[in-house]
Amino acid sequence: MAIAIMCSGGDAAGMNPAIKKFVDYAFKSGEVPYLVFNGLEGLIDDEIRLAQHKDVAGILHRGGTIIQSSRSKRFFEYEYREKAFQNLQDHNITGLIVLGGDGSFRAMERFSSEFKLNFVGIPATIDNDIHGTEYCLGFDTALNVIRDALDKIRDTASSFNRAFLVEVMGRDCGHLAIVSAMTSGAEVCVIPEVEFKSEELGKRLKDEVQYGRNYALAIVAEGTKRTQEVYEWLQESVGLETRVSILGHIQRGGNPTVRDRLMAFDFTIVAMDHLLSSDNSNKVVVFQKGEFRLIEIQEVVSSKYEIPKRYLDAINLLD
Ligand code: F6P
Repeated sequence: MAIAIMCSGGDAAGMNPAIKKFVDYAFKSGEVPYLVFNGLEGLIDDEIRLAQHKDVAGILHRGGTIIQSSRSKRFFEYEYREKAFQNLQDHNITGLIVLGGDGSFRAMERFSSEFKLNFVGIPATIDNDIHGTEYCLGFDTALNVIRDALDKIRDTASSFNRAFLVEVMGRDCGHLAIVSAMTSGAEVCVIPEVEFKSEELGKRLKDEVQYGRNYALAIVAEGTKRTQEVYEWLQESVGLETRVSILGHIQRGGNPTVRDRLMAFDFTIVAMDHLLSSDNSNKVVVFQKGEFRLIEIQEVVSSKYEIPKRYLDAINLLD
């Protein structure tokens, strides 16, 4: 049986371990593995190649994805989706694994409703914002990149009597921001999901400054679009000289952590086992309460992800 793997949307650490597991597992089970290069763009342009062992040798520890990824505007048009499907058929590929985020799964849901597909999705996005799964590949590695940056920024903030505002990624979701704020001991965290009580918090910080606080760390999720506002608030209302650091795309890079490697193996094995035992699945592997399950793609794309309440509650306790 010919099966393929591809990445779509923002790259995430853990994609390479998943690709390696896919190829090794396929050979072990006597299947024929294909790699789709360059995401949905590559699917349209037939950048589909038979995988060999040497393609995946020495990639386990590498961030990003060796088969590249893309965000495809063309895939929104039916004629290109039809071409993509034809390419899969031309290679006799009957199963497809897609590593991607919310947007990619929406595209796959559309694709699978139009053509007879057998695909399984694996959640992979540093944003960790896919409904139905508590974990997406890349989240832990991104958190560790942010932790490393915040530990360093705290060193200079405390040495120089300053506040630092650090903007982190996450698109519309504040998951990366809140976990980073909790684990780096930030005093302020501003995310789209929770009201920013600037007056209350400002009063508390000002009191602390009066009693000797000489620096502060504020984490702002990019999705709030409030970086400038929080900067002015720290500087003017709280009264701390403030610097801004926008971490940007370094959050997407870095060697996958042990957690991301192990999760990649598990997600891939569940995806493969399912693909090889079904001929019309269109499901996503999810991680819930310590276990891997498969749920319908429609369920994944029909609701918005919600950050666990215990994390949201923690925002009011930060200091
Ligand atoms: O979805 C992953 C992500 O890194 C988001 O956190 C961020 O908003 C977006 O992708 C950035 O996209 P691009 O790499 O296209 O600028």
